[in-house]
Amino acid sequence: MKSKAPSVSRTRMNELVLPNDTNTLGNLMGGRLLHFMDVAAGIAAMRHSNRTCVTASVDNVDFKSAIALGEVVLIEAVVNRAFTTSMEVEIDVWAEDTASGQRRKCNRAFFTFVAVDQSGRPIPIPAIEPETDDERERYEAAARRRELRLILSGRLDLARADNLREHLAAATVDA
Ligand SMILES: CC(C)(COP(=O)(O)OP(=O)(O)OC[C@H]1O[C@@H](n2cnc3c(N)ncnc32)[C@H](O)[C@@H]1OP(=O)(O)O)[C@@H](O)C(=O)NCCC(=O)NCCS
Repeated sequence: MKSKAPSVSRTRMNELVLPNDTNTLGNLMGGRLLHFMDVAAGIAAMRHSNRTCVTASVDNVDFKSAIALGEVVLIEAVVNRAFTTSMEVEIDVWAEDTASGQRRKCNRAFFTFVAVDQSGRPIPIPAIEPETDDERERYEAAARRRELRLILSGRLDLARADNLREHLAAATVDA
């Protein structure tokens, strides 16, 4: 299977915050934002794999800044790294006040998607070939995050988390 650059999967979505999306303070509800993020990440995963993809996990999502009624939500999703059947998708979120044209960063999260066949069974996907220094950095970090999330979900023993242990050992030596 031919590897692909992260740019193949890059997905940009714009959403206007409408009254039905907000809480009683007039800000976008967290669940609604997660929905937007899930859709953008799913499109990125499908663009990379050309398969049906399902959400396997969502890493910690911090809501750093509220997004108000009438603001535009900008979401960018990209596949950082593909493993055997799963891939890490990074999602970045900004809010735009159209009156001033100013944008502020609100969120970053990592979703794991798995490509599946028509019976819902995981199926192999192409690898990622990073092209820029930034993409290479994200690619390397994705392997460590994958080990961490598999440990937290009880799917991997720390003793087998080679990337994570090497990184921690190097950080300890540097400190
Ligand atoms: C995701 C799903 C396909 C995984 O199936 P499974 O039987 O556990 O399959 P496997 O154990 O072979 O794992 C498949 C891949 O998923 C990854 N994976 C499974 N659970 C994961 C988790 N919690 N976090 C990160 N990765 C996970 C595995 O590491 C593996 O990756 P790899 O092939 O790249 O090494 C299955 O659990 C599923 O269909 N879940 C429901 C998905 C869904 O409905 N999502 C919508 C949200 S409600």
